[in-house]
Amino acid sequence: MKVAVLGCGGMGGVHADCYAKLADVQLTSVCDLRGEMAEKLAARTGAKAYDSFDRMLEEADFDVISIALPTYLHKEFTIKAAKARKHIICEKPIALAAEDAKEMIAVCEEYGVRLFVGHVVRFFPDYANIIETLESGKLGRPGVAHASRIGGHPGRWFADDACSGGVIMDLMIHDLDFLRACMGEVVSVYAKNARKEGLDYALVTLRFVNGAVANVESNWGYPGPFHTKAEIAGSKGIIRTNSLKSSSLQIVKQATSADANASVVISESPGFRSPYELQLEHFLACVRDGNKPIVTADDAFKALELALAAKESALTGKVVYLKGAEDNG
Ligand SMILES: NC(=O)c1ccc[n+]([C@@H]2O[C@H](COP(=O)([O-])OP(=O)(O)OC[C@H]3O[C@@H](n4cnc5c(N)ncnc54)[C@H](O)[C@@H]3O)[C@@H](O)[C@H]2O)c1
Repeated sequence: MKVAVLGCGGMGGVHADCYAKLADVQLTSVCDLRGEMAEKLAARTGAKAYDSFDRMLEEADFDVISIALPTYLHKEFTIKAAKARKHIICEKPIALAAEDAKEMIAVCEEYGVRLFVGHVVRFFPDYANIIETLESGKLGRPGVAHASRIGGHPGRWFADDACSGGVIMDLMIHDLDFLRACMGEVVSVYAKNARKEGLDYALVTLRFVNGAVANVESNWGYPGPFHTKAEIAGSKGIIRTNSLKSSSLQIVKQATSADANASVVISESPGFRSPYELQLEHFLACVRDGNKPIVTADDAFKALELALAAKESALTGKVVYLKGAEDNG
């Protein structure tokens, strides 16, 4: 399968490095407005570099494209790629507005191309294990959940709400999607969001159709290492993961500028395959075999709706009820 990457920053680099490792996958081309970024990534992966998407579309040979652009550009370039009949793997969040996400999904359907969204937490082994354990019924009926995602402020375009949607849209959306996968549809959302320069902190309470409740915390502005936690209590047991405790040797030190520049933190272990690699391999297999993915474009749309509801609640100070969801708890 021939693939291309659009956007050669943090995530474009992660996608390209994964493709370069996958068997039966050829990374033919990479593109970034900043030509030097594309050149650097091309040199590392053996792809051809472009500084214009239109030129890459005209000249390069590929069936699937990873879109790893700043979020506010996802819609424009997804639609362009779909019209050129390329299957798309778009980074999360799918878009910043529900209408935009709907249009992206509709255009991909119209042009007969697949659209996948990088909700990669579904591919982290500990999170995938929590979903599987809940599905097995071993924990009984889920009642209360906590999830958190805490790290430094990424700065740059992420600091502009119009470009990234802030910590709720950009970071918390991982846990919103994960908790929906665990507990089903959400009835209502209540959120607090504290923001000032260098800090964007959110605490969100979700109430689910099945009566369960979850507290979700996200922080851009923590001075220490990036870490995540999740805990779900069911009627028969509790399951939890804590990224700070999942290594055998733990050193906690003040974050350095190198840590701040890393786009994602991937746990290291000899037997551990990168969740990003697992995710991209899975999406490409879905293109090849026509299978339904673990996380669908509709899941990405629903996660976006939750993030938008949380932002609205934080803004108005009121509980936001999701349309069509009924409280059966
Ligand atoms: N799944 C994850 O774990 C994860 C982690 C970080 C970021 N993300 C998401 O990935 C996306 C990209 O984030 P990032 O951290 O890689 O950002 P980034 O700023 O590091 O990279 C974006 C790149 O896009 C390039 N670009 C901008 N406009 C362009 C255009 N018109 N044509 C071509 N190139 C253009 C920029 O020059 C830059 O190199 C965002 O949607 C973000 O939310 C996902």
